[in-house]
Amino acid sequence: MPTILVLNSSVSGDASVSKILIDEAVRNLSRANPGATVIQRDLGANPVPHLTGANVAGVRGEPKSDEERAARALSDELIAELRAADTIVIGAPMYNFSIPTGLRSWFDYVLRAGETFSYSEARPQGLITGKRVIVVESRGGLYSEGPANVMDFQEPYLRTLLGFIGLTDITFIHAEKIGFGPEAREAALASAKQALATAA
Ligand SMILES: Cc1cc2nc3c(=O)[nH]c(=O)nc-3n(C[C@H](O)[C@H](O)[C@H](O)COP(=O)(O)O)c2cc1C
Repeated sequence: MPTILVLNSSVSGDASVSKILIDEAVRNLSRANPGATVIQRDLGANPVPHLTGANVAGVRGEPKSDEERAARALSDELIAELRAADTIVIGAPMYNFSIPTGLRSWFDYVLRAGETFSYSEARPQGLITGKRVIVVESRGGLYSEGPANVMDFQEPYLRTLLGFIGLTDITFIHAEKIGFGPEAREAALASAKQALATAA
């Protein structure tokens, strides 16, 4: 049975545009794959703890303290969810030209040498392969074209992080100009839903 991993990273709860759209994506995917298992991670409402000096050895070293062992256990759990998934749906609002810290923190736990990528002579190699990723990017402004395009550190960054662990089949869905008023927000939702329907 297919498994869908859903990562929400907006901190705006039900008002979130990306949350509305990832919910729509999951409905579409579940219709196309009846009986699919859905794993939900709400990194906005329940963020994973940021790495500190007290826990970093849990993901980059040998865990010895309770905090380090807890970080290792969480990292193992998040990686297991990733491995189990056939499709990964990510809600990624643009925060300060990049991604929310909740999503960034998830990557800190998931990018682990020997688990999700390996070092080889030539270059690092991603170990999480054969999966599809749908990323919904909500943005206050317009970045996919025009003068602000050079300030888009969200999409290239996500492409790099995901690609680093082997996730290269990525569909990016844009919901832009959310800050331009209610009509612009509705138009962005409608066109993103259309793109999601096509993607499903
Ligand atoms: C902390 C924060 C930083 C933001 N930074 C940007 C930004 O750099 N560029 C932009 O266009 N919009 C920015 N926005 C607006 C959001 O991208 C926009 O409201 C989007 O709809 C948020 O996604 P969501 O509705 O899924 O939460 C920011 C919003 C917040 C809360």
